[in-house]
Amino acid sequence: MKESISVLKSEHRSISAVLHALKELARMAHDATARPRFQVLRSMLRYIDEYPEKLHHPKEDEHLFARVAARAPEARALVEDLKAEHVEGERLIRELERALLFMEEGWPVGAREFQQAVEAYAEFHWKHMRKEEQELLPLAEEHLTADDWRKIDAAFDVNRDPIAGMHERDLQALFTRIVSLAPAPVGVGQPWQKTAA
Ligand SMILES: [Fe+2]
Ligand SMILES: [Fe+2]
Repeated sequence: MKESISVLKSEHRSISAVLHALKELARMAHDATARPRFQVLRSMLRYIDEYPEKLHHPKEDEHLFARVAARAPEARALVEDLKAEHVEGERLIRELERALLFMEEGWPVGAREFQQAVEAYAEFHWKHMRKEEQELLPLAEEHLTADDWRKIDAAFDVNRDPIAGMHERDLQALFTRIVSLAPAPVGVGQPWQKTAA
Protein backbone atom coordinates (compact mmCIF):
# COMPACT_ATOMS: atom_id res chain seq x y z
CA MET A 1 0.00 0.00 0.00
CA LYS A 2 1.22 3.54 -0.75
CA GLU A 3 2.68 5.30 2.28
CA SER A 4 0.26 8.24 2.00
CA ILE A 5 -2.75 5.94 1.83
CA SER A 6 -1.70 4.05 4.91
CA VAL A 7 -1.18 7.38 6.75
CA LEU A 8 -4.72 8.51 5.87
CA LYS A 9 -6.21 5.15 6.82
CA SER A 10 -4.44 5.08 10.14
CA GLU A 11 -5.68 8.62 10.88
CA HIS A 12 -9.21 7.40 10.08
CA ARG A 13 -8.72 4.63 12.67
CA SER A 14 -7.71 7.15 15.35
CA ILE A 15 -10.72 9.38 14.63
CA SER A 16 -12.96 6.30 14.63
CA ALA A 17 -11.66 5.12 17.99
CA VAL A 18 -12.56 8.45 19.60
CA LEU A 19 -15.98 8.47 17.90
CA HIS A 20 -16.73 5.00 19.32
CA ALA A 21 -15.62 6.12 22.77
CA LEU A 22 -17.67 9.31 22.57
CA LYS A 23 -20.80 7.37 21.56
CA GLU A 24 -20.38 5.07 24.54
CA LEU A 25 -19.90 7.96 27.01
CA ALA A 26 -22.87 9.88 25.53
CA ARG A 27 -24.95 6.76 26.18
CA MET A 28 -23.64 6.54 29.78
CA ALA A 29 -24.48 10.22 30.37
CA HIS A 30 -28.15 9.23 30.32
CA ASP A 31 -27.73 7.44 33.63
CA ALA A 32 -28.99 10.07 36.07
CA THR A 33 -27.40 8.23 39.02
CA ALA A 34 -23.81 9.00 37.96
CA ARG A 35 -22.67 12.50 37.06
CA PRO A 36 -20.53 12.52 33.88
CA ARG A 37 -17.03 14.00 34.02
CA PHE A 38 -17.63 16.70 31.45
CA GLN A 39 -13.92 17.35 31.11
CA VAL A 40 -13.38 14.08 29.24
CA LEU A 41 -16.27 14.84 26.89
CA ARG A 42 -14.76 18.25 26.19
CA SER A 43 -11.38 16.66 25.46
CA MET A 44 -12.99 14.24 23.02
CA LEU A 45 -14.76 17.03 21.16
CA ARG A 46 -11.51 18.95 20.98
CA TYR A 47 -9.82 15.89 19.52
CA ILE A 48 -12.42 15.23 16.83
CA ASP A 49 -12.43 18.94 16.04
CA GLU A 50 -8.67 19.48 15.82
CA TYR A 51 -7.40 16.22 14.41
CA PRO A 52 -9.38 16.34 11.16
CA GLU A 53 -9.20 20.11 10.95
CA LYS A 54 -5.51 20.75 11.47
CA LEU A 55 -3.91 17.51 10.42
CA HIS A 56 -6.10 15.30 8.30
CA HIS A 57 -8.28 17.38 5.97
CA PRO A 58 -5.49 19.66 4.73
CA LYS A 59 -3.62 16.56 3.49
CA GLU A 60 -6.70 15.36 1.67
CA ASP A 61 -7.91 18.65 0.22
CA GLU A 62 -4.62 20.19 -0.86
CA HIS A 63 -2.61 17.20 -1.95
CA LEU A 64 -4.58 14.08 -2.68
CA PHE A 65 -7.97 15.41 -3.83
CA ALA A 66 -6.50 18.12 -6.03
CA ARG A 67 -4.34 15.61 -7.91
CA VAL A 68 -7.09 13.03 -8.27
CA ALA A 69 -9.46 15.68 -9.68
CA ALA A 70 -6.80 16.77 -12.16
CA ARG A 71 -6.03 13.23 -13.38
CA ALA A 72 -9.53 11.74 -13.33
CA PRO A 73 -12.33 14.06 -14.48
CA GLU A 74 -14.88 11.40 -13.44
CA ALA A 75 -13.72 11.87 -9.83
CA ARG A 76 -14.41 15.62 -9.73
CA ALA A 77 -17.99 15.40 -8.46
CA LEU A 78 -16.89 12.99 -5.72
CA VAL A 79 -14.02 15.30 -4.72
CA GLU A 80 -16.41 18.26 -4.54
CA ASP A 81 -18.78 16.22 -2.33
CA LEU A 82 -15.98 15.23 0.04
CA LYS A 83 -14.71 18.81 0.32
CA ALA A 84 -18.24 20.01 1.06
CA GLU A 85 -18.47 17.33 3.76
CA HIS A 86 -15.31 18.70 5.40
CA VAL A 87 -17.09 22.04 5.72
CA GLU A 88 -20.34 20.43 6.89
CA GLY A 89 -18.38 18.41 9.49
CA GLU A 90 -17.16 21.64 11.06
CA ARG A 91 -20.71 22.91 11.39
CA LEU A 92 -21.82 19.66 13.03
CA ILE A 93 -19.00 19.91 15.55
CA ARG A 94 -20.17 23.40 16.55
CA GLU A 95 -23.62 21.85 17.14
CA LEU A 96 -22.06 19.11 19.24
CA GLU A 97 -20.27 21.73 21.35
CA ARG A 98 -23.52 23.61 21.91
CA ALA A 99 -25.29 20.37 22.89
CA LEU A 100 -22.49 19.57 25.35
CA LEU A 101 -22.67 23.03 26.96
CA PHE A 102 -26.43 22.72 27.27
CA MET A 103 -26.11 19.30 28.94
CA GLU A 104 -23.34 20.49 31.24
CA GLU A 105 -25.52 23.33 32.52
CA GLY A 106 -28.64 21.28 33.17
CA TRP A 107 -27.60 17.61 33.38
CA PRO A 108 -29.39 15.19 33.26
CA VAL A 109 -31.47 17.55 31.13
CA GLY A 110 -29.84 17.71 27.70
CA ALA A 111 -28.37 14.19 27.81
CA ARG A 112 -30.75 12.99 25.11
CA GLU A 113 -29.99 15.94 22.81
CA PHE A 114 -26.27 15.44 23.31
CA GLN A 115 -26.52 11.75 22.50
CA GLN A 116 -28.53 12.49 19.36
CA ALA A 117 -25.95 15.04 18.23
CA VAL A 118 -23.12 12.54 18.85
CA GLU A 119 -24.92 9.77 16.94
CA ALA A 120 -25.59 12.10 14.01
CA TYR A 121 -21.98 13.30 13.90
CA ALA A 122 -20.50 9.79 14.19
CA GLU A 123 -22.77 8.48 11.44
CA PHE A 124 -21.89 11.44 9.21
CA HIS A 125 -18.16 11.03 9.75
CA TRP A 126 -18.12 7.26 9.27
CA LYS A 127 -20.01 7.64 6.02
CA HIS A 128 -17.49 10.26 4.92
CA MET A 129 -14.47 8.08 5.76
CA ARG A 130 -16.05 5.06 4.04
CA LYS A 131 -16.63 7.12 0.91
CA GLU A 132 -12.97 8.17 0.93
CA GLU A 133 -11.67 4.65 1.47
CA GLN A 134 -14.04 2.83 -0.84
CA GLU A 135 -14.49 5.35 -3.65
CA LEU A 136 -11.76 8.00 -3.63
CA LEU A 137 -8.67 5.98 -2.71
CA PRO A 138 -9.27 3.29 -5.38
CA LEU A 139 -9.56 6.06 -8.01
CA ALA A 140 -6.34 7.60 -6.69
CA GLU A 141 -4.53 4.26 -6.98
CA GLU A 142 -5.84 3.79 -10.48
CA HIS A 143 -5.06 7.22 -11.90
CA LEU A 144 -2.15 8.82 -10.06
CA THR A 145 1.36 8.39 -11.44
CA ALA A 146 4.49 7.39 -9.52
CA ASP A 147 5.54 11.04 -9.66
CA ASP A 148 2.19 12.14 -8.17
CA TRP A 149 2.69 9.72 -5.28
CA ARG A 150 6.25 10.96 -4.68
CA LYS A 151 4.91 14.51 -4.43
CA ILE A 152 2.03 13.51 -2.16
CA ASP A 153 4.36 11.51 0.11
CA ALA A 154 6.72 14.51 0.27
CA ALA A 155 3.84 16.87 1.10
CA PHE A 156 2.64 14.51 3.84
CA ASP A 157 6.18 14.50 5.24
CA VAL A 158 6.17 18.30 5.40
CA ASN A 159 2.99 17.91 7.40
CA ARG A 160 5.31 16.30 9.96
CA ASP A 161 7.61 19.33 10.15
CA PRO A 162 8.51 20.58 13.65
CA ILE A 163 5.37 22.70 13.98
CA ALA A 164 2.91 20.21 12.50
CA GLY A 165 4.80 17.48 14.38
CA MET A 166 4.32 19.33 17.61
CA HIS A 167 0.66 19.46 16.88
CA GLU A 168 0.64 15.73 16.22
CA ARG A 169 2.33 15.15 19.59
CA ASP A 170 -0.27 17.40 21.27
CA LEU A 171 -2.99 15.27 19.77
CA GLN A 172 -1.31 12.08 20.93
CA ALA A 173 -1.07 13.55 24.43
CA LEU A 174 -4.74 14.49 24.21
CA PHE A 175 -5.64 10.94 23.13
CA THR A 176 -3.72 9.53 26.10
CA ARG A 177 -5.51 11.98 28.41
CA ILE A 178 -8.89 10.86 27.06
CA VAL A 179 -8.06 7.22 27.76
CA SER A 180 -6.81 8.02 31.26
CA LEU A 181 -9.87 10.14 32.14
CA ALA A 182 -12.64 8.07 30.55
CA PRO A 183 -14.28 5.42 32.74
CA ALA A 184 -14.59 1.75 31.70
CA PRO A 185 -15.39 0.37 29.18
CA VAL A 186 -13.85 3.28 27.24
CA GLY A 187 -10.73 4.07 29.27
CA VAL A 188 -8.99 3.48 32.58
CA GLY A 189 -10.30 6.52 34.50
CA GLN A 190 -12.33 6.61 37.72
CA PRO A 191 -16.01 5.62 37.48
CA TRP A 192 -18.34 8.59 37.31
CA GLN A 193 -19.39 9.82 40.76
CA LYS A 194 -22.67 8.45 42.00
CA THR A 195 -25.17 11.22 42.77
CA ALA A 196 -26.83 11.28 46.20
CA ALA A 197 -30.03 9.21 46.18
FE1 LIG B 1 -12.04 13.67 4.64
FE1 LIG C 1 -10.29 11.32 5.61
